[in-house]
Amino acid sequence: MNRVLVIGGAGFIGSALIAELQSYNYEIFVIDNLSFGNREFIHIPDSHFFKVDILNQHDLELAITRINPTWIIHLAAIHFIPYCNQNPFASSNINIKGVINVLQAARQLKQLSKMFFASTAAVYPICDYAIPEEQQPEPMDIYGLTKLTGEHLVHQFHLQTSIPTIICRFFNAFGPNETNPHLIPEIQRQINTGLRTIRLGNLEPKRDFIHTSDMVWATRLLLEKFDIGIDTFNLGSGKEYSVLDVVKAFERQLGEPITIEVDPARVRKVERMHLLADISKLTSRINWEPRMSLDEGIKTLIKAQPLIELANLHTGRK
Ligand SMILES: NC(=O)c1ccc[n+]([C@@H]2O[C@H](COP(=O)([O-])OP(=O)(O)OC[C@H]3O[C@@H](n4cnc5c(N)ncnc54)[C@H](O)[C@@H]3O)[C@@H](O)[C@H]2O)c1
Repeated sequence: MNRVLVIGGAGFIGSALIAELQSYNYEIFVIDNLSFGNREFIHIPDSHFFKVDILNQHDLELAITRINPTWIIHLAAIHFIPYCNQNPFASSNINIKGVINVLQAARQLKQLSKMFFASTAAVYPICDYAIPEEQQPEPMDIYGLTKLTGEHLVHQFHLQTSIPTIICRFFNAFGPNETNPHLIPEIQRQINTGLRTIRLGNLEPKRDFIHTSDMVWATRLLLEKFDIGIDTFNLGSGKEYSVLDVVKAFERQLGEPITIEVDPARVRKVERMHLLADISKLTSRINWEPRMSLDEGIKTLIKAQPLIELANLHTGRK
């Protein structure tokens, strides 16, 4: 049986991915420092959970050697863009030095047969079309820059080890257990406190929102099917929604009108108007297409209270 190590597994996408892999009987191990994640998001025994910071090279190597995984899925990162912009050193440390530490430990493993690196659509420049993987990367912010560097490090790792390696550029995920105050959990938070006049930033930008259930399904299929070389895949829904579209979906599912007040403090000065994935490479590789519509996904969020107090995340970390 595969021993799957998910680094950053106690977070938003990690917790959904672990549930998906567990339902296919993979044995899961997690390394996470719980800075953003939550131990209660995941159901694994304490013997399989290692509370370790990936910046602590000594403890990380000890944990990875002890786990001796066959697959490593590296998700741990700082990725809320406003937070990265305000904390460029902390985020580049985790997103670059952290990756170097993980890869250094991984090189020593005898039975490692797969490496998966979570990258991001933020490596791409502004484009007003569905972006294919061949698009020349040109990050607009420190976050995208750190992730692009992570991709280069992962390429070096593959060159040196020949271990099959997947780089997945995630687009905008939504679903339960969100840990960062992105658009959808922020609307969810305001709506679930009873507000019907909500405060948001820019209303026109469009994003490719994909539900985590579809994202982790595709990730599992990719991990299972990918056996040789190194390759990069976009992972989005292939559909674009504006902030207003998202609010309209909340209105439909709530059955009540929502009024928007633009909050100047939330308006980003530099903003992309479009971010849409061309997912044809992924869909031709795996037998998959997104199932969960924006409305269906939002319906489940309206019922659920966010588990994390998102407002706290604007200021300090837990
Ligand atoms: N959420 C999205 O929409 C999205 C989009 C594009 C890319 N991504 C990428 O996907 C990955 C997972 O994102 P997520 O939304 O689940 O984020 P998340 O913040 O919920 O999860 C990241 C996890 O990493 C852990 N972590 C952070 N720093 C650590 C450290 N120094 N040592 C050990 N653990 C640490 C956190 O505690 C958290 O559990 C990230 O690499 C992110 O850049 C996410």
